[in-house]
Amino acid sequence: MHAFLKGATVQSTKPQKEKATAGPSGEKKPKALPWVEKYRPKCVDDVAFQEEVVAVLKKSLEGADLPNLLFYGPPGTGKTSTILAAARELFGPELYRQRVLELNASDERGIQVVREKVKNFAQLTVAGSRSDGKPCPPFKIIILDEADSMTAPAQAALRRTMEKESRTTRFCLICNYISRIIEPLTSRCSKFRFKPLANQIQHQRLLDICEKENLKYTNESIEALVRVSEGDLRKAITYLQSAARLNTDKEITEKAVVEIAGVVPTKMIDNLLEICFKGTFEKLEVAVKNIVDEGYAATQILGQLHEAIIERDISDKQKSAITEKTAVVDKCLADGADEYLQMLSLCSVIMEQAEKNN
Ligand SMILES: Nc1ncnc2c1ncn2[C@@H]1O[C@H](COP(=O)(O)OP(=O)(O)OP(=O)(O)O)[C@@H](O)[C@H]1O
Ligand SMILES: [Mg+2]
Repeated sequence: MHAFLKGATVQSTKPQKEKATAGPSGEKKPKALPWVEKYRPKCVDDVAFQEEVVAVLKKSLEGADLPNLLFYGPPGTGKTSTILAAARELFGPELYRQRVLELNASDERGIQVVREKVKNFAQLTVAGSRSDGKPCPPFKIIILDEADSMTAPAQAALRRTMEKESRTTRFCLICNYISRIIEPLTSRCSKFRFKPLANQIQHQRLLDICEKENLKYTNESIEALVRVSEGDLRKAITYLQSAARLNTDKEITEKAVVEIAGVVPTKMIDNLLEICFKGTFEKLEVAVKNIVDEGYAATQILGQLHEAIIERDISDKQKSAITEKTAVVDKCLADGADEYLQMLSLCSVIMEQAEKNN
């Protein structure tokens, strides 16, 4: 029963071995690997914070009875990592290539590909043991990453394939928005929701990386990383790496993190709001122009303004009027409207509402 898991623990030592040999062989030159890849969980147990998913998945791996899977949740929460780790544990490095077909949004995944590539791969039959004698499940896994970007006809073409090939193939669909997957597909899969990572967990992961990379940092900088990444560990790790590159021998500071993340300084937002509440329209025009000219993304300013407004001591009616306008501006920005004009129009509404306070 535990054969697969045992196999897993044996394998999980392998990558470490590789690292160990990589160290002494050359002079200490770090491999040019983005840290998100370097610190991608190697086995299912490494996946942080998704306890329910990991527990259920491990039970399925033990029984060698994997259902079709559907992983969904926000970016950078471990979906791709989890299935890659699970596949590696099931098949080992040798069989991995034969048994796992990975297709993501960058591959052509129209109906033609589903008909041909997926079907051909699914139809190959496979044995139930590995060359090293260890048992392995007698099926293959097809991973369709970013499945929400597949067209509806392509998704529909999967339905029959999924059922027909169920003897030899398991599918794992991964997406951010489950509502974009057609109903007949979701009903054929066990669904797993991936939660945004808790601050505490992100904090710990970042500290681990800092330690392994020998980084100097301030506590505030790690807190800032957690704050700006909003549960997306990939984003946090990427920012950390950029910050580390930025000042190679000095310590990483909160200021550097905020700068890299493109967060508008609180002072600027406060200043803008003060003008909305107390200033004149001329001043507002100048302030908005300044902030847009600084190169901050309008959607970022919008988000921060929104947060500040929610916190502010004004009536619910005023808040709702401003929030409604925020939503409209957000849509316009997504459609490609002029950033300066949109920000000005939002600030004008804030100003209009602020009048009612006096
Ligand atoms: N739960 C987690 N445990 C450990 N590391 C994680 C976790 N979630 C994300 N990471 C880190 O973030 C990186 C990206 O994770 P992954 O590719 O699995 O995200 P994803 O959920 O597939 O995101 P997307 O929806 O954008 O494809 C990983 O390489 C890993 O370093
Ligand atoms: Mg992914």
